[in-house]
Amino acid sequence: MAEIKSSEITPESVYLSRRKFMVGLGVAAAGAALVAACGPQRKEAENTLRVTPTADRTGPAGLAEPPAVPGSPTATPTPTPRPVQAEAPEALTPYEDIISYNNFYEFSTDKEAVSRLAQGFKTSPWTVTIGGLVNKPLTLGIEDILKRYPQEERIYRLRCVEGWSMVIPWLGFPLANLLKEADPLSAARYVRFETLFDPEQMPGQRMKFFPWPYVEGLRLDEAMHDLTILSTGLYGKTLLPQNGAPLRLVVPWKYGFKSIKSLVKIELVEEQPVSLWMAMAPDEYGFYANVNPDVPHPRWSQASERRIGELGRRRTLPFNGYAEQVAHLYAGMDLRQNY
Ligand code: MTE
Repeated sequence: MAEIKSSEITPESVYLSRRKFMVGLGVAAAGAALVAACGPQRKEAENTLRVTPTADRTGPAGLAEPPAVPGSPTATPTPTPRPVQAEAPEALTPYEDIISYNNFYEFSTDKEAVSRLAQGFKTSPWTVTIGGLVNKPLTLGIEDILKRYPQEERIYRLRCVEGWSMVIPWLGFPLANLLKEADPLSAARYVRFETLFDPEQMPGQRMKFFPWPYVEGLRLDEAMHDLTILSTGLYGKTLLPQNGAPLRLVVPWKYGFKSIKSLVKIELVEEQPVSLWMAMAPDEYGFYANVNPDVPHPRWSQASERRIGELGRRRTLPFNGYAEQVAHLYAGMDLRQNY
């Protein structure tokens, strides 16, 4: 099984050689074989993203009874964390776990219900627009995207803000390739991303207290960074709906909520975009959302994480282990203020 060291970033030479190695091994089969041995331990209560707004927004609640928020009288108490593991080698998370334990609120707030509810989600035809402050607006079908941008494998950690993590072999291509083609104007400072809005197909979008559609944003230099990819697959297979088919963002040094799924719109803008989570709970989720073990979430510590498929907890690494590659983007910034 392929392993990545905790300090490793998968530079191109490494992931390309690993890709060859994994193709030889038959990664999908290797992942499937691991499932029985180490499926997710789902018994523990997880921290959860806030599902009731703290922002001053009113409107009819779509759910009769929103799920309990940790810290509220009805919530399950957060368990005492198990001891943090020493730097153990990192293995790929089994395929079965990656496709069955998902955050995709457009379908459900229940991670284990998402894959079932997303079955049959129509990902073809699918069009993505790239516009705003660009010289060359683009409207691309997913087939054009697959043809135009060679797919490569990137093995990245995914660290959810809730305190769990996975190691995922994504297929995709640098977002920069697409942005360069659209040719941003000099006034463009940020990139705004939007997920499909289709409550007919996505039952979670009938929950009225979320400010749908799901929106995320990056600063232009973050978006142009080579680690930032648009993904179309994982484990050598086409992306499934629960993982954000047919096209999602992956930004490995940020909390998972920045990696927006099922993209339909990419816009170059001047002002910092307001993400769905910033609108929902501005005191809990900021624009930057860089993985930072030193800045606790207001309701839990971010110092350690539960790697899906493992028993103990791992230390959470600054920038999710990608500091060498990205820390310079934030030189001179107070990362406590810019959480
Ligand atoms: N994108 C959309 N559109 N809707 C979501 O609810 N959840 C985010 C992110 N992207 C989410 C989303 C969160 S909180 C995480 S941790 C990751 O997707 C989970 O990705 P995965 O289910 O593929 O592991």
